[in-house]
Amino acid sequence: MEKMFKLILTAAMMLTMVVTAVGCGSSEQSKEPAQGSDKKKLIAAADTTFAPFEFADANGQYVGFDLDLIEAIAEEAGYELEFQSIAFDGLIAALQSGQIDCVASAMTITPERLQAVNFSDPYYKSGLIVAVRADNNEIKGMEDLKGKKIAVQSGTTGAIQAQKISDRVTHFTGADQAFLELKNGAADAVVMDYPVTAYFIQQGNKDVKMVGEIMSAEEYGIAVPKNKQQILDDINAALQRLKENGKYEEIYKKWFGDLPQQ
Ligand code: ARG
Repeated sequence: MEKMFKLILTAAMMLTMVVTAVGCGSSEQSKEPAQGSDKKKLIAAADTTFAPFEFADANGQYVGFDLDLIEAIAEEAGYELEFQSIAFDGLIAALQSGQIDCVASAMTITPERLQAVNFSDPYYKSGLIVAVRADNNEIKGMEDLKGKKIAVQSGTTGAIQAQKISDRVTHFTGADQAFLELKNGAADAVVMDYPVTAYFIQQGNKDVKMVGEIMSAEEYGIAVPKNKQQILDDINAALQRLKENGKYEEIYKKWFGDLPQQ
């Protein structure tokens, strides 16, 4: 495990993610091109149950780090952005069928997914963490999950990890549903991305805590269909410029505040 991932839980809210770059996003569910606009259209999608990366705010508007990032990328690259909310386990299929042009959904770059789609340069460093109810003193980390009831989001790296450890894994379409299952006592633990779990607890869910170390250093990338090389190139170039001109930093600060970057 990398050093940066070794922080203990008490230090949990300060730390970890390194941001490198990218995104696809809009804060509106769908945007029609402006009248008379001859801009190319970019259709981006995400599973919107994953705060603070992509979620619905109190008004039902889709917001989050990835949405701001993909919106900035689209603008930088000269595209008109349209955004769709799609369940996480349907995103790769939507790319492959040509329904959407890119996915900005905190999606980890993995060898398996690279068989099916391409990824932009990494834009965020992350990892998995175990969450339990705050009054649980039995589960102290991933190693204690054998045979435990684990709630996960379907199709995620957390789901794959949980299935390696326990045969009592319940899959949910939304990440929020997995946390609910833990809170209401129907699951013993959730295995989920660290920044999302930390944010969830910070948002007032003090009946949940994180245990053990952040594991499996992961990097998020924007996924693009294999046959859309031009879009991939445009996204990478825009991402690079956003890192250079401070816009990436601005968006990062908006959603993650002073959490240290590497
Ligand atoms: N990073 C994890 C993965 O790629 C989870 C991503 C879930 N993203 C979401 N928007 N629900 O499998």
